[in-house]
Amino acid sequence: EVWNPNGKYRVVSTKPMPGTRWINLLIQNDCRLEICTEKKTILSIQDIIALIGDKCDGVIGQLTEDWGEELFSALSRAGGKAFSNMAVGYNNVDVDAANKYGVAVGNTPGVLTETTAELAASLSLAAARRIVEADEFMRAGLYDGWLPHLFVGNLLKGQTVGVIGAGRIGSAYARMMVEGFKMNLIYYDLYQATRLEKFVTGMLPLTYGAFLKASGETPVTWKRASTMDEVLQEADIISLHPILDKTTYHLVNKERLSKMKKEAILINCSRGPVIDETALVEHLKHNPMFRVGLDVFEDEPFMKPGLAEQKNAIVVPHIASASKWTREGMATLAALNVLGKIKGYPVWFDGNR
Ligand code: DGY
Repeated sequence: EVWNPNGKYRVVSTKPMPGTRWINLLIQNDCRLEICTEKKTILSIQDIIALIGDKCDGVIGQLTEDWGEELFSALSRAGGKAFSNMAVGYNNVDVDAANKYGVAVGNTPGVLTETTAELAASLSLAAARRIVEADEFMRAGLYDGWLPHLFVGNLLKGQTVGVIGAGRIGSAYARMMVEGFKMNLIYYDLYQATRLEKFVTGMLPLTYGAFLKASGETPVTWKRASTMDEVLQEADIISLHPILDKTTYHLVNKERLSKMKKEAILINCSRGPVIDETALVEHLKHNPMFRVGLDVFEDEPFMKPGLAEQKNAIVVPHIASASKWTREGMATLAALNVLGKIKGYPVWFDGNR
């Protein structure tokens, strides 16, 4: 699909993206926009090299694509200076290779913070209240009357939520769980406690803590853990929000799973390889009261053998950022990044900060 065929700058998007703002932004700024409408979900490196062609000023790509040496050298040969992932995560991008070929990299943070945190919260609730199992039970025609023991789950109020990775999304999730469900909070950040630290030391005690006290409620507690193990041992729900890099690959492994409470709930809306999924399947098999809510998988689009059969797992297909507002925002930011570089403005990239 080609927009503004006579535009001066050739920009390629490897997928159609939601909304029209991003398209207008590019075509009103002298870009010839080519959108790949190829039906297959995951494009190969060769497919993308063909899309780049002989002349290409910038590419908007997707997290399913492997942006390494081959693609950045092809883009640079075609005169390209900009690449933006339509994602906040950029573990599919070899930033050193991009630098080597003089291609600026962009990502799309901010617009997906709340949407992603809301999915983590949804999975937390769904797991705590066994919503998916109960839905399957109803549809199977098994409900024959109210019973005291039917699908008894956990009350979140007063339980402890553990957040690993206290950046934008982890902090937004923590606030939802603390303010919305009156959970106590324990959190750990591998690098630094940035946003969550501000919330915990600033707004939470001043506003929410005071409010709870005034209304006669037991105040929630909050603390920054000095080790990850503290979170694993104390939390009833643990939600993972780190970036994926060498230090976070298999961050949750067999040993760490064994440190969690037998009835804990583990949520992952970050990247699949943060959990050793094979170890997780074994853990789920041997601990029927342990539950997980997973949006991401180690070998997407596949699940490790045995995971789909586990009743104590809720699995959804990497949809954490899938709200209309967010996806349109991501597309617009990705277009702005590429256009920015072409026009000499800054490109938004977390990796530079
Ligand atoms: C991201 O942006 O990194 C998500 O995984 C998809 O929205």
